[in-house]
Amino acid sequence: MPGPRNYKIAVIAGDGIGLEVVPQGIRVLDAAGKRFGFTFTWHNFDWSCETYRRTGRMMPADALDQLRAFDAIFLGAVGHPDVPDHISLWGLLIPIRRHFRQYVNLRPVRLLQGLDSPLKNVRPGQIDMVIVRENNEGEYSEIGGRLYEGTEEELAIQQTVFTRRGVDRILRYAFRLARTRKSHVTSATKSNGIIHTMPFWDERFHIIAQEFPDVRTDQYHIDILTAHFVRHPEWFDVVVGSNLFGDILSDLGPAVVGSIGIAPSANLNPEREFPSMFEPVHGSAPDIAGQGIANPIGQIWSGAMMLRHLGETEAADAVEHGIANVLANSKARTPDIGGKSTTADLGDAIAREVAG
Ligand code: NAI
Ligand code: MG
Repeated sequence: MPGPRNYKIAVIAGDGIGLEVVPQGIRVLDAAGKRFGFTFTWHNFDWSCETYRRTGRMMPADALDQLRAFDAIFLGAVGHPDVPDHISLWGLLIPIRRHFRQYVNLRPVRLLQGLDSPLKNVRPGQIDMVIVRENNEGEYSEIGGRLYEGTEEELAIQQTVFTRRGVDRILRYAFRLARTRKSHVTSATKSNGIIHTMPFWDERFHIIAQEFPDVRTDQYHIDILTAHFVRHPEWFDVVVGSNLFGDILSDLGPAVVGSIGIAPSANLNPEREFPSMFEPVHGSAPDIAGQGIANPIGQIWSGAMMLRHLGETEAADAVEHGIANVLANSKARTPDIGGKSTTADLGDAIAREVAG
């Protein structure tokens, strides 16, 4: 008989509301473990902008070695108004995503009952899509530089990197995912304006699509695609995009279903050579940090994605149902979704649903 299942999770709560929503995520996941027969060992790392101000680094030099042995990473958000955003991003999030080959950034968008979409005439269930963002290369590359700084001739160059390996693997991931859903993949492109990398992306999309003849495909330039997200969000199932386009679409998606505070994400290393990382889409929200009113659902839903990745499917379903039931039936709502509850009240309501 194998022993009871135990998962070792690295927790990086980070800054601002990260520190407020992560404990609610942990509380709900512990409740799910109790119900479905497994446990977590949570290991807290205090890596953050606060650590940066104290030590000059967002995380220690051997941070990646420290993280490697964990089953997964559960992250809140990093970022502080006193620390430039490129330091918090390139000092922590991007090294983890890249070194651990978390090349899939998965961001589900679902209009749940009880959420107030800013769009007219959309009903719960009508919007249900997943954005698959390439997470390791593309427009977010370190290659480039500046010349003649501070002079009239000043210039900046930023290289975009699309490799066949990198493009093919994200496209294949999107097609495989579509087969578990409505078998429809939309590609975000801009091959009219960006004439080297984007036609290459389109070419690989058509080639990989031939491996999945049962999956319906379409593609749109990113500019009109953002308009379709607002006018026809029900058209989409799986939407695949480069690092930049995926980033933009995955803030727009949650905005059309109500609040960025409910949007979850997973940074996946599908081969499982390294831990994957689960975090809400939102940032550290300095404008509301410290008030105890942040919506914890993005963090909790990210926890459900972590459960699914760990193979705890029933528990993942229970957490998603818990979120949906509380949104549909409970008065526990934070201000961003039209209520007066605190972060802890909403976390507590979901934890009680999950406990069964
Ligand atoms: P943000 O997502 O932190 O906030 C945008 C707006 O949404 C704010 O008005 C905020 O109050 C609201 N909001 C966000 N999450 C919420 C929640 N759970 N409940 C209720 N309202 C919520 O994005 P912003 O303001 O652009 O960035 C703030 C900081 O966070 C910056 O330093 C940025 O670099 C960092 N950031 C970090 C991310 C990460 O750690 N993955 C992602 C995005 C931003
Ligand atoms: Mg973003």
